[in-house]
Amino acid sequence: MDITPAQQRDVPPGNMLFTRKPIQAMDADGGEHGFKRTLGPLSLVALGIGAIIGAGIFSLTGIAAADNAGPAVVVSFLLAALGCALAGLCYSELSGMIPAAGSAYSYAYASLGELVAWIIGWALTLEYAVGAATVSVSWSGYVVSFLGKFGLALPHALTASPFDTDALGNPSPGMVNLPAMLIIACVSMVLIRGISESAKTNAVIVTVKLAVVAAVIGFGAFYVKPANWHPFIPPNAGAFGHFGVSGIFRGAATVFFAYIGFDAVSTAAQETRNPERDMPIGILGSLAICTVLYVLVCLVLTGLLSYTKLHVSAPVSVAIGQTPLPFLRVAVDVGAIAGLTSVILVMLLGQSRVFYSMSKDGLLPSVFCSMHPRFRTPYLSNLLFMVFAGLAGGFTPISSLGHMTSFGTLLAFVIVCVGVLVLRRVDPARRRAFRTPYVPYVPAAGILVCGALMASLPLQTWVLAMVWLAIGLVVFFTYSRFHSHLRGYS
Ligand code: ALA
Repeated sequence: MDITPAQQRDVPPGNMLFTRKPIQAMDADGGEHGFKRTLGPLSLVALGIGAIIGAGIFSLTGIAAADNAGPAVVVSFLLAALGCALAGLCYSELSGMIPAAGSAYSYAYASLGELVAWIIGWALTLEYAVGAATVSVSWSGYVVSFLGKFGLALPHALTASPFDTDALGNPSPGMVNLPAMLIIACVSMVLIRGISESAKTNAVIVTVKLAVVAAVIGFGAFYVKPANWHPFIPPNAGAFGHFGVSGIFRGAATVFFAYIGFDAVSTAAQETRNPERDMPIGILGSLAICTVLYVLVCLVLTGLLSYTKLHVSAPVSVAIGQTPLPFLRVAVDVGAIAGLTSVILVMLLGQSRVFYSMSKDGLLPSVFCSMHPRFRTPYLSNLLFMVFAGLAGGFTPISSLGHMTSFGTLLAFVIVCVGVLVLRRVDPARRRAFRTPYVPYVPAAGILVCGALMASLPLQTWVLAMVWLAIGLVVFFTYSRFHSHLRGYS
């Protein structure tokens, strides 16, 4: 237990649901203190790019172009980047003032109280575990594409969920997406054994990803047919989100997924040499580089192939198949498979880290923080999420998973923006390693843009997300509030 009796006495009586965890009580969480300040701006940008480039650009771009925005998916990417940049500025401030293991959950506990922290921690399962499932389906698509080039055709029934559709949106059900389940299981095993995250491994993966993306842009550009860009904004097909302006918004909510991961930069605030200067460079720098790359990749994809044909699980590979460069298609598949694996790893790691913190706070059963006696990893938590994410990846189409992930993350972003506003008011004197500029305008704009993206998600996503949050509230009111260490339970 990390909270001293003195700190418990500081907790004001009254409505306990909105009790904030004292920031000083977080100093001890997970032993984050004493990190060596070794990271400079370049390593931060590399960290960001390593966590960002994945299924968003390699798979969801095609779906957003084919179903929602057409070639204007480029505009969707710019809109999503704006939301991320605004939220990123708020993340930087909170990560620089709350020394707990960086996650929106810890920030909310300190700024908005226990109930909101719970909601955000619960919603982060959508970002991390469902996000990992989304990437696993993309991984499966690229593995199928890769093996197909060597004459190894895996049966559709074993590589697609029962709810999948084909390139034209017609039902094309399979039984189960086995490769997706397999990669979730393998990565979970690696996490249970324990990984030492090394800057060198990250640098290699970042280089491979960037090389593949640069090759797609550099070679693909020569084979673009500008006729494919017309109409740039296809007219609305009669329903919200199906082309036209609303399609650009729904496309933005879909491809928002492609930026998830930049918040990983903010978690390294305690290890950064000069956070005031380097945090915004790391967050905004990696966002800016990815935005430019994403826009160029979108132009190439929608220029190589009509957007109507991009609703496939490996759209970059399919689009590059239009060029007379077979080696490039193999390179894309290999690069995507390697890059996607690392994103799944980061997401499943993030998931176990958030539930670890929640369990340490007493809000979840101790199974989520019980450690393997030899490997010193939260192995039971890893196993539970292996089953959860594996089933999600095995039986759900990628677009539904991606939308749920975007919902959970956008909700976390909105709450982080609100958190900055609240802490400026209730704790103005605390030292902030980085201050969000133009408060309250930047957080308010962040709330507005991220809120608009949430509003653009399909109704089905809202219904599922509300069911998920309702389950979370039941757990909170029947378990967590009676076990919360902050309330004095131990
Ligand atoms: N941004 C990450 C991806 O696109 C999550 O895979």
